[in-house]
Amino acid sequence: MSQRKPLIAANWKMYKTPAEATAFVQAFAPLVKGHTRDEIVLCPSFLSVANVVAAVQGTNLHVGGQNMLWQEEGAFTGETSAAMLHAAGCTHVILGHSERRQFFGETDETVNQKLHTALKHKLVPIVCVGELLAEREGGKTEEVLLRQTVKALANLTPEVSRAIVIAYEPVWAIGTGKTATAEMAAEAHLIIRSQVARSLGHEVANAMRILYGGSVKPDNASSLLNQPEIDGALVGGASLDPQSFAKIVNYTQS
Ligand code: PGA
Repeated sequence: MSQRKPLIAANWKMYKTPAEATAFVQAFAPLVKGHTRDEIVLCPSFLSVANVVAAVQGTNLHVGGQNMLWQEEGAFTGETSAAMLHAAGCTHVILGHSERRQFFGETDETVNQKLHTALKHKLVPIVCVGELLAEREGGKTEEVLLRQTVKALANLTPEVSRAIVIAYEPVWAIGTGKTATAEMAAEAHLIIRSQVARSLGHEVANAMRILYGGSVKPDNASSLLNQPEIDGALVGGASLDPQSFAKIVNYTQS
């Protein structure tokens, strides 16, 4: 057993009104009451953060943002800062999700800037990396994962980097019902972890949690999460329903 505490995060994307987010927590919290094996994080839209933070008081649930800007504050219409997330009660933040890279121009460089700012504000960053289908089919998976990992971790010291979590999310597996096989995921995680070791040293690399994301569902959670290299999951679609997400969190350990 690795010493790394698994982290299972719900990425609600652009779903749920504030009232729906509150209702989710009310239904979900009792289903995972007393669960300490895994760290559980809910990432609602910014508009629902306050409701979810209020609803998780006194539970074992944490709240994260889905994105943030790297600037401290300023004239950046439509953006949210790390300080705002922290002040609102978020402890985690997803950075560099492939949907942000694909639709909102996020680059390896902006992911790196955001990572620096998130760490400065004591948020646990969940940094997403992963290859496109064409990249996998073109034999470029390793090259892409190495590039994204190197660039995300640029100019960080081992001391500040301990909180970082990486999520391996093959883009072709997100929302498609296709998952990487447990072996594919484990192989990608090893590539990422070996690069973390080169960037930040073995100690940080061994302690760093690397999650899998991409069509994690109640019926495949156990086979994925029992891989020694997989330290948790970032879950989209299957995290929207309290029963379904609770089944994933309560996966059977083998
Ligand atoms: P999915 O999304 O579980 O719906 O595939 C995962 C993600 O985008 O983080």
